[in-house]
Amino acid sequence: MKHIAVLASGQGTNLQAIIDAADRKEISGKIVVVISDHADAFALKRAKNKQIEAHFLDPSLYDDRERYDLALVAKLRAVETELVVLAGFMRLLSPSFVEAFPLRIMNIHPSLLPAFPGTDGMKQAFNYGVKVTGCTVHFVDRGLDSGPVILQEAVPVIQQETLATLEQRIHAAEHRIYPTAIDLFCRDKLKVVGRRCYIVD
Ligand code: GRF
Repeated sequence: MKHIAVLASGQGTNLQAIIDAADRKEISGKIVVVISDHADAFALKRAKNKQIEAHFLDPSLYDDRERYDLALVAKLRAVETELVVLAGFMRLLSPSFVEAFPLRIMNIHPSLLPAFPGTDGMKQAFNYGVKVTGCTVHFVDRGLDSGPVILQEAVPVIQQETLATLEQRIHAAEHRIYPTAIDLFCRDKLKVVGRRCYIVD
C-alpha cells in the first residue's frame, strides 16, 4: 500500500471523497497523514474522525515559505510519504518542495487546464461564459497549475446556471476523478513522458 499524504486548507470535501474511496478499497493506498496550514480547517476534523494522523502546521511560526516548506517535507518524510495529494491547499509550494517529490505531487483544479489556471478557476470560467468547463487532476511542477495532466472531466455549463450550481457539479466531478487518479498512481499505472501522462496496463 502506497503512503498518501493529503494537504488541505479548507472544507476537505475532496479529502472526504478520497477517504471514502479508500474505505471502499477503491484506492490501493493508505492516507498516512493530513496536514493543514489553517488551524480550523474542517479537513483536519474529517481526518481525526477517521483516526488519521492530522497536523496543523502554522505558517506564522516560519520566517519564509522556504522554511515552512522544509518543515512540511520533514513531516511528510517522517511518515514515508510516497504521494502528496493537494486537496484545496491554498499555498504556493516552493521549488525545493516540488523537487523533494518529483512527479509525486498531485493537484486538482476546478477548470479544464490550461484554461483558467490560478485562484478562482471556476469563477473565471463562469464569468467568461464558456459552455463547457470541468476539472483537472495534474502532477505539480514548478509552474502554476502547469504540470502534466492526469485526468480531466468535462462539465457542461447549462443555460440557467449560477456559480453555485456549477460549483456543485464541478465538485461532484472532482470527487469522481481524484480518487481514480490516486488509485492509478498507487497501482503504478501512470507513466509520464514529457508533458504527456499515459495510463499503462
Ligand atoms: C476544489 O474545488 C479544488 O478544485 C480546489 O480547491 C477546492 C477544494 O475543495 N483546488 P475541498 O476543500 O476539497 O472541498
